[in-house]
Amino acid sequence: MKLHLVAAVVSAALSLPGAVGAATLNTLDGQAPIVIAHRGAAGYLPEHTLGGYELAIQLGADYIEPDLALTKDGVLVAMHDTTLRGTTNVATVFPGREGEPVRNFTYAEIQQLTVTPRGPQAGTTYPGFTPSMANPYRVPTFQEVLDFLVDYNTANGTQIGIYPEAKSPTSELGSRQIVQQLNAAGFNSANDKVFIQSFDLNALRAIARIQEEEGSKQRLAALGGVSLLSSGEYSIGGLTLAEIATFADGVGVSLSGQALTQGFVDAAHALGLIVHGYTLRPLTQEASDAQIATLFQLGYDGWFTDYTDRTRASLDAILPPSPVPLPAGGLLLVGGLGALAFVRRRKAA
Ligand code: G3P
Ligand code: CA
Repeated sequence: MKLHLVAAVVSAALSLPGAVGAATLNTLDGQAPIVIAHRGAAGYLPEHTLGGYELAIQLGADYIEPDLALTKDGVLVAMHDTTLRGTTNVATVFPGREGEPVRNFTYAEIQQLTVTPRGPQAGTTYPGFTPSMANPYRVPTFQEVLDFLVDYNTANGTQIGIYPEAKSPTSELGSRQIVQQLNAAGFNSANDKVFIQSFDLNALRAIARIQEEEGSKQRLAALGGVSLLSSGEYSIGGLTLAEIATFADGVGVSLSGQALTQGFVDAAHALGLIVHGYTLRPLTQEASDAQIATLFQLGYDGWFTDYTDRTRASLDAILPPSPVPLPAGGLLLVGGLGALAFVRRRKAA
């Protein structure tokens, strides 16, 4: 009886909201999935801008995600599309050149552009949000994104991570710059909150080599759709998960087809691969809740989302309570044992 009571008290102390040893999740490391701000706050503001990244952080992002392209003069800038016409006023500033690839423009030319919003709920303002920087909606360099993030983390005591993508066309020059600039900003080890991602798996292999040469080891994520081979293996970008696991730490997958099966998530996790999914674009909180309920159950380790606030809210509603700090758990335990002693004294009396 007494042993049962002690066990119950200890158990209560350890299982109350987030106590030490809180419930393990289906994720690879048992920790909460991460929320990756896809192209910044793409659902609300011009994508891949400092203003957008800042809003995304304020909406609850764990990581910000810049897609990276090289200019004609070899500057890495944050840009998703291969041309500038879909997201900037290039047609107005450089009429006749709107169909040219980003790599035809110098950085000085790209600096003259303003990024324009796209998406059904995007605009140039967000209620209650005032960007902290001058010119929040021009095309930033990767260096400016890193400087912004480091300054933000320092000023606010946060540890927001970064998830840069080497966009096609990839190049040795661009890949090396990504690694070097991350290193200089302090995002240089597997323990730092950084992933480098690419759909170009040859480029990702090259980045693994570049990391060795540059003395760093950021985690790598291979992007693509998931296929199930007749052998029973899953593949992404023409490589099996086992092959990907020889040089990458995770996969970022299109949330459709085989990616939505338990077999795929389990197979990736069995190889030690982190599983992130793209791209969540829920237009309502209810739609987000339904998405996350399914994906959370599958054991996904995180998602790229255009609506960080909705994904964060869905996740927070479904996660077990967060950990009670050890001292608080200890106090609970002491209190429980004190109560037990009181009961014993009453019984003896
Ligand atoms: O990088 C993951 C996700 O962003 C892939 O989609 O085309 O927006 O880069 P995309
Ligand atoms: Ca991307």
